[in-house]
Amino acid sequence: MNPPAARSMLPALTPDEQRHSEAVAALIRTELAAAGGWLTFERFMELALYAPGLGYYSAGSWKLGGGGDFVTAPEVSDLFSRCVAAQCAEVLGATGGEILELGAGTGRMAAVILTALDREGALPERYAILEVSGELAARQRTRLDALPPRLRARVAWLERLPQAPLRGVILANEVADALPVRRFTVSGGAVHELGVALAEGGTLKAAPGPPDAALAKVCAGMFGAPPRNLPEGYTSEVSLRLSPWIVSLGACLERGALLLLDYGLPRAHYYHPQRIAGTLRCHFHQRAHDDPFINLGVQDITAWVDFTRAAEGATVAGLEVAGFATQAAFLLALGLERQVAAAADAVSRARLAGEARRLIMPEEMGEAFKAMALTRGYEAPLLGFTLQDLRRQL
Ligand SMILES: C[S@@+](CC[C@H](N)C(=O)[O-])C[C@H]1O[C@@H](n2cnc3c(N)ncnc32)[C@H](O)[C@@H]1O
Repeated sequence: MNPPAARSMLPALTPDEQRHSEAVAALIRTELAAAGGWLTFERFMELALYAPGLGYYSAGSWKLGGGGDFVTAPEVSDLFSRCVAAQCAEVLGATGGEILELGAGTGRMAAVILTALDREGALPERYAILEVSGELAARQRTRLDALPPRLRARVAWLERLPQAPLRGVILANEVADALPVRRFTVSGGAVHELGVALAEGGTLKAAPGPPDAALAKVCAGMFGAPPRNLPEGYTSEVSLRLSPWIVSLGACLERGALLLLDYGLPRAHYYHPQRIAGTLRCHFHQRAHDDPFINLGVQDITAWVDFTRAAEGATVAGLEVAGFATQAAFLLALGLERQVAAAADAVSRARLAGEARRLIMPEEMGEAFKAMALTRGYEAPLLGFTLQDLRRQL
């Protein structure tokens, strides 16, 4: 979809959204001017999503769930979180310790996991949440305050990653896709970084920038220099932050598993020559489009996860890639069908069957979303990865 087409199909901004978006645009223009007229896309995305008090995740807009911009698997169905709970129970059974959830959204997954683990007699010592969004942290508190006191007492919000490494499980559902990415395009047979500059009328546009050694090295490593097999005009993204992020999470894990759940692909598929426009997507009022330069600060900007890069990060972190599977295979291995069959009556069974289809059908969330387990000091096979092993694709 080209940008003008994206604009014409989106709802108009409310006056409040318009004011907010103009404030974010002004901030980015100021930073552009200070930087000589060009910013990396990564810096632009960081400002649009995380600028203090203004970025999409830092400010107050209603992002997630009904009435928000997008819906995630825990919001589609509690079946998802119950399956994740089953995976947590298995790991916690061996390691004890706690769960740390990054980017806990509305808190729904945390509430369902704690309730399911309580039923199993497998509660973690603590359920810690690290959340960058003030709005979402407030929604998490409201939701988790409704838990029985003995469960609520286990929940804690952290300001930063724990100093002391933990035993147990680190969870990140749809967080890696929100890490700011660099963009590149192939032109004249070479890879050029695609950043951001001012267009006429003070709007923003994609613009090639000066060569950058870090990006050039990563692209040369992946595609050769000059790039083999990528057609002229090919545009895509690279997350230079993914590997350091995994290293920082790995440093927090003494023993147990880091579970990454997100939409993404192994590298050979991610950078397939036919995927000529990359994976960058924006979400605004339940509509997906590909123009990051509109609705600044009031729309989500994401890119799919290169799971090969995640696995490389794991190696640097000294973590084992213990499992990689589609979301469908992961949930089925963790008893999704059993949960549907156990519904109390036919009406709820039919509703749960519909929700399960959304989670596992290939044309819905089943194939595009993946589960990856990175472990330390945990050798036993993980239940969620017993039906499928896609690690050789990494
Ligand atoms: C797409 S939402 C997913 C929310 C939730 N995990 C779910 O699946 O419903 C991304 C979440 O990650 C949070 N987030 C973004 N960047 C983060 C970071 N660097 N560290 C921790 N949380 C982050 C956001 O505020 C939000 O809660």
